[in-house]
Amino acid sequence: MASEIKTIGVLTSGGDAPGMNAAIRAVVRKAIDRGVKVKGIKKGYMGLLAEEIVDMEAYSVSDIIQRGGTILGTARCKEFTTEEGQQKGAEICRKHGIDGVVVIGGDGSYRGAQALSKQGINTIGIPGTIDLDISCTEYTIGFDTAVNTAMEAIDKVRDTSSSHERCSIIEVMGRNAGYIALWCGIANGAEDILIPEKYDFNEQNIINNIIGNRKRGKTHHLIINAEGIGHSTSMARRIEAATGIETRATILGYMQRGGSPTCRDRYYASIMGAYAADIICDGKTNRVVAMRHGEFVDYDIDEALAMQKDISEYEYEVSKVLSASSRTEG
Ligand code: ADP
Ligand code: F6P
Repeated sequence: MASEIKTIGVLTSGGDAPGMNAAIRAVVRKAIDRGVKVKGIKKGYMGLLAEEIVDMEAYSVSDIIQRGGTILGTARCKEFTTEEGQQKGAEICRKHGIDGVVVIGGDGSYRGAQALSKQGINTIGIPGTIDLDISCTEYTIGFDTAVNTAMEAIDKVRDTSSSHERCSIIEVMGRNAGYIALWCGIANGAEDILIPEKYDFNEQNIINNIIGNRKRGKTHHLIINAEGIGHSTSMARRIEAATGIETRATILGYMQRGGSPTCRDRYYASIMGAYAADIICDGKTNRVVAMRHGEFVDYDIDEALAMQKDISEYEYEVSKVLSASSRTEG
């Protein structure tokens, strides 16, 4: 089986995430170590369809492990969601002698990998997204760096918020998932944490909390709002009108996707990249690498995409208790 795989491609797709470079480096070096050639496919599926394909050697990935972003570039590509686009992608792989492709990205990118596998090109997915919203895995590349970046930024907003005795709504990324908001909410000691999985849209509760905290002498009120709820600026206006307390919205935005990856993101991305290279060189296809109960495993993509995951009830309850007790302390 192993002898059938002579050349693999590697691409990054969807939103970039810190640690993707560590994964690319590991895929390249592990595959080369297995005697397999590697080609870098630039700009995700868009670059595949445009034949932006380059040979990669062990030295091509020198000096990248500490860098944010992705040296291959990334994109979202509508054409690849069509059957014609997928057939064209597979033909281009065959033309370049690519037997299999390692795809680093999120759920959407996995669907592309699934389609390519159906077209006869072996594919392996690696979870790369700051959102942590891939059901089959406890870890996704970039989440750790993103929450640390957001946490540090929120601490800074808290300083000025306290000085001015303001209420601050800080919006963090996460698409439809509240993981970044929950983690930062707990880590930054926020007074309110709004996540799409749980939010009841009862703004009056938040207003009552702010007024209660102010009466108890609290100088700031931090609300971490997830992107999936959004509307932080209009929420700030309504809260200021209802409480009489100056309220500002800060949308952290793309800073959460950039920056040098944390040690955890470099380490896990390296292991997952090597794991993906190993199983693609073994001839496996339509699989994704995941972390389950702290172990590295792989799942069939169809099975992985059918899995569900939700915010832990216990962790959410803890977040409520901790933010409530900080309110009563004043
Ligand atoms: P992520 O991988 O982070 O979830 P997207 O959802 O934007 O990001 O997906 C990245 C890319 O994967 C898309 O731009 C598209 O090229 C490809 N993709 C998404 N969904 C499909 C699909 N159903 N079939 C084939 N390719 C898809
Ligand atoms: O998936 C990562 C992410 O940053 C999400 O948190 C966000 O919703 C989305 O990508 C933004 O995507 P774009 O780069 O297309 O604006």
